[in-house]
Amino acid sequence: MTDWNPAQYLAFADERTRPARDLLAHVPLIAARRVYDLGCGPGNSTAVLVARFPQAHVTGIDNSPAMLEAARLACPGADFAFGDLSIWLPQDPPDLLFSNATFQWVPRHIEVLEHLAATLHEGGVLAVQMPDNLDEPSHRLMRQVAEDGLWAWKLREAAVARDLLPPVATYYDRLQPLFRRLDIWHVIYNHPLEGVEGIVAWLGSTGLRPFLAPLDEREREAFLAQYARRLAEAYPLQRDGKVLLRFPRLFMVGIR
Ligand SMILES: C[S@@+](CC[C@H](N)C(=O)[O-])C[C@H]1O[C@@H](n2cnc3c(N)ncnc32)[C@H](O)[C@@H]1O
Repeated sequence: MTDWNPAQYLAFADERTRPARDLLAHVPLIAARRVYDLGCGPGNSTAVLVARFPQAHVTGIDNSPAMLEAARLACPGADFAFGDLSIWLPQDPPDLLFSNATFQWVPRHIEVLEHLAATLHEGGVLAVQMPDNLDEPSHRLMRQVAEDGLWAWKLREAAVARDLLPPVATYYDRLQPLFRRLDIWHVIYNHPLEGVEGIVAWLGSTGLRPFLAPLDEREREAFLAQYARRLAEAYPLQRDGKVLLRFPRLFMVGIR
């Protein structure tokens, strides 16, 4: 797949950073020395961590060179390093392992989170937010368009780039033994966007990437046109001409 596009991703910086702020609001640490932002992207979530813990050594980890380059420019108060989260572990025991909108891309992520939790100090915190939106029309329709077109053979892998999140009960049973306290909850955001084009623009830099990457330019245009037509049926215009993108997200905070 092609690399992430930080500028396109940050077109919705405020909406994308809001769950990071909401997650951090539930982290009960007064101070921290060692903080990691796992899947730091262009540094938007890292900047939130630096502002909350100005004395801490904050490191952003990501496996996208483009995202890391953007993060280094945007957030000089932290340092950044390349790492694949499916195998990455911190060298020194952290006070906070924080991750906003990343582990949904990491296969077998519960197992990965188990290993990460074991590295925390006593009293250390694992805080994770993941989109839980694969059953929303925005994502069901991209899978349908993929299956219905002549491009179906090219897009066989696209729908499995991200697995459906396991049930909350599974996270709880697997992770609870590692924590003194584990809190898991959902929040549903409703983002007013500029018509279905806004939904396409939002997902173009995230969920649509595995579907667009295998297509050539003409196929991409045709795919997006079909996708937009189907979106228009699922997301009616509000009185102000906008559409509401319903966006459920799963939050977890574990205290070691
Ligand atoms: C949706 S962005 C989240 C960025 C930022 N944390 C935020 O709050 O908006 C997901 C990031 O996870 C990174 N990522 C995905 N899979 C990864 C992996 N296996 N290892 C490291 N980073 C990964 C991507 O490169 C991307 O920058």
